[in-house]
Amino acid sequence: MQVVSGIDILQGQKSIPLAERTTMLLGGIPEVEVRVWDFAKIDALPGIIEKTALPVKVLGAGSNILAKEGVLPLCALTVESGLKPEVTGTDGELTLVRCGADIMLPVLLSRLAGLGLSGLSGLAGIPGSVGGAILMNAGSFGTEIWNRVRSVQVFSPSLGLVELPPERFSYGYRYSQLKDHEGWYLILSATFALEKESEESVRKKMRDCIELKKAGQPLGQPSAGCVFKNPDEKISAGRLLDEAGMKGERAGGMMFSEVHANFMINTGGGLFRDALELIETARAKVLGASGWKLDLEVRVWS
Ligand code: EPU
Repeated sequence: MQVVSGIDILQGQKSIPLAERTTMLLGGIPEVEVRVWDFAKIDALPGIIEKTALPVKVLGAGSNILAKEGVLPLCALTVESGLKPEVTGTDGELTLVRCGADIMLPVLLSRLAGLGLSGLSGLAGIPGSVGGAILMNAGSFGTEIWNRVRSVQVFSPSLGLVELPPERFSYGYRYSQLKDHEGWYLILSATFALEKESEESVRKKMRDCIELKKAGQPLGQPSAGCVFKNPDEKISAGRLLDEAGMKGERAGGMMFSEVHANFMINTGGGLFRDALELIETARAKVLGASGWKLDLEVRVWS
């Protein structure tokens, strides 16, 4: 395979198992992993990927992935930008901050607090990467990341390397139009527009969010966050699962949390097939009990 500086290609066993790179602690090794760390070389990426002849999946923080064991017939794409959050300018009262898609959301939020900038504090306690958060419009407690996006830098074979404003995308609950983009693409960086506020006040908002989460969610246990999307803006899938008796329900090493029924926990030695079994049981029970059909929020890699 062609060698390009700025893009590393790891075959099979050289790639680190997904069980060590996903928050659910599940999953084997992608057949090929392609790691992009120099955006100036990115035009070589389509050629490299085409040669693998494998379907492409982008790996961020691994916090929303349910992956199968063994060698996975796919090409995992990762970004290592090294682009830490930096102020790039202002727009009236707003301050613009750019950061790499591979930066973890808590790192971005902590930097924004240090800069005395607010607007994303409600996302405190979400363990994903900035790119993953943008892809799925991560949100909690009324804050959604897209409400603060000023531009997104994307690469795809059809678009090339482009920086697009939010007007180019539709987005909504756990959705951005990027999810519908045909073929593979990479989110490389994003710029956010934020308001000035005292560091103390921003940090307090973040602490309050984390406290609220701790009270109602099993933070710190191996999970991928909520397994299912809420079926409606006003209907919590967690509540439906709870009412259908799914709290504490197990299959092998996987279990629906006793704290919040939409979190599936790997209690140790859980397997992909255990997770699928629980998902099917949950869907059937919720459908029977309430008539709602639940869709997955986690992304399945198999
Ligand atoms: N509830 C139960 N039992 C449960 C879970 C929840 O009765 O097992 C009840 C709660 O008591 C509350 C209501 O359902 O009255 C709503 O619960 P919660 O505030 O936890 O909100 P949610 O709709 O279940 C959503 C997001 C979370 C996000 C929280 C807070 C989804 C699928 N989930 O949960 O996001 O943290 O709101 O904003 O949208 C995630 O996306 O991975 C995630 C965890």
